Amino acid sequence: MERETWATRIGFILAAVGSAVGLGNIWRFPFQVGQNGGSAFLIMYLACVLLIGIPAILVEFVIGRRSQRNPIGAFHALGKSRFRAIGAVCVVTGFVILSYYTVVAGWVLRYIGGSATGAYFGSEEAYFLEIATGYDAVVLHAVFLAVTVGIVMLGIKRGIELAVKAMVPAIALLLAGLAVYALTLDGVVDGYRYYLSPDFATLAAEWTTILPAAVGQALFTLSLGMGVMITYASYVGEDQSLLVDSGSIALLDTVIAFLSGLILFPILFTIDATPGDGGAGEFFIGVGGAFADIPLGTIVGVVFFVTLAVAALSSAISILEVIVSYFIDEFGFDRRVATFGVGVIVFVAGIPAALDMGTFEVYDQVTGELLLPLGMFLLVLFVAWVVPEESLDELLKGRSGSNLDVFWLWWVRTVVTVAVGLTLVLSVYGFAVEFGLLAESA
Ligand code: TRP
Repeated sequence: MERETWATRIGFILAAVGSAVGLGNIWRFPFQVGQNGGSAFLIMYLACVLLIGIPAILVEFVIGRRSQRNPIGAFHALGKSRFRAIGAVCVVTGFVILSYYTVVAGWVLRYIGGSATGAYFGSEEAYFLEIATGYDAVVLHAVFLAVTVGIVMLGIKRGIELAVKAMVPAIALLLAGLAVYALTLDGVVDGYRYYLSPDFATLAAEWTTILPAAVGQALFTLSLGMGVMITYASYVGEDQSLLVDSGSIALLDTVIAFLSGLILFPILFTIDATPGDGGAGEFFIGVGGAFADIPLGTIVGVVFFVTLAVAALSSAISILEVIVSYFIDEFGFDRRVATFGVGVIVFVAGIPAALDMGTFEVYDQVTGELLLPLGMFLLVLFVAWVVPEESLDELLKGRSGSNLDVFWLWWVRTVVTVAVGLTLVLSVYGFAVEFGLLAESA
C-alpha cells in the first residue's frame, strides 16, 4: 500500500503549526514568563527559538523526509538500526504526553461550560479541585481523546490536513480578537510594561535559571523531542525547502505565544493577580478568577477556552499520529484499527493522571523535563555525528544551495548540542534534588 503524503505544502506547514500551537503557547508560556522574570524570559525565549528551535526542527525534518518513516522505523530506513532505541524513547514519550495532555484538554472542555454558566465564578479554587480529578475528569479525557482519534482515523489528507486548515486560522483570529479586547482593560499598561519593557538586568543576574527554562519552553512549544516533526516531514515530497518551512513554523508559533501574553498579562493585572504562581491548576484558578471579574467575562471566558480546546486538539492529533504511524509502517496495520487501538491504550494510561493530581504532576514533569530534552539530545547527536552527510544532503534538496546549510551542521554540533545537553543535565540535577538523591546546594 502506498504511503500517504500531504496534499499541499501549506497543509504540511499548517499541520506542523497546529502541532506546535497548543496548551504550551496559551497556558504554559505565560506562566513560564511569570516564573522566570517577565520580559527577561521573553528575550531569552525569543533567542532560543531562533538559535536552537529552528535548527532543532531541521534535525527532525531531515530524519523524517530522508527516511519517509515513523521515528523508530526511520533508523532502519537510514541503515542505522542500532540506534532505534532513540526512536523508541520518542514513541514512549508520545504515549505518556498524550495520556495527560488529553486530561488537561478535558479540563478545558469543562471550563467552556463553566464559563458559560458562571459555575466557577466566586469559587474558582474549589471548582478546579472538584473537576480536575475523579469520574468527570476521566469522562472528559475520553471525550477529547475520542475526537482526536476520529480525526487521525481519517488519515493525513482527509483528516489531519483538512482539520488544521480550519483550526489554525481560527485560533489566530480568536486570539487576535481577544488581544484587541485586552486593550480595553484597566490592567493593560501595567501588563504590557511587565511583559514587554526589556529587562536586561534580571536577564544578566538570573540567566542560569532562565536559560534552561527558555530552552525547555522552546522545545515544548515547537513540539520537539518526540518525533512529531520527524513523522510530519515523512509525509513531505522532496520539492520543498525545509529551511524555509522551519522558519515559517517557528515564526507562526512564536506570534501565537506572543499574542497570548498580550491577552493574559492585561487580564491578570486588571484583577491584581500575580503572574507566575505556577502549576497547572493555578492557571485555571487565576484566569478563571479574572473572567469572573472583568467586563464581558462570561463571553470572553467561553471564547478563550474554546480557542484553547481547538489549539490542544491540533496538538493532540500530532502526538497520536506519531504512535499510529509506527503501527502502520512497521506492522502493516490498517489506519483505523491502529488509531482505535492506540486510542484505547492511551485512554487507559491517562486514567491514573485523571484520578490523582500527584500522579498527573509526575507525568508532566517526567515527560517535560526529562524525556523530551533526552529525546531531542539523542536526535541531535544522531544527526550531527552518525548521519551528518546524509542530513546535509537531505537539507540541500529542494534548495538552490547556500552556505547556510553547512553552517547549520556546524551550529547543531556546537551550540545546539551544548544548549540541549546543558538543559538535560540541569533537569536531571533538578530531579535528583527533588527526590532527595542529592542535597540541594545553597
Ligand atoms: N507543542 C504543543 C504545545 O505547545 C504540545 C506538543 C504537541 C508537544 N506535540 C508535542 C510537545 C511533542 C512536545 C513534543 O502545546
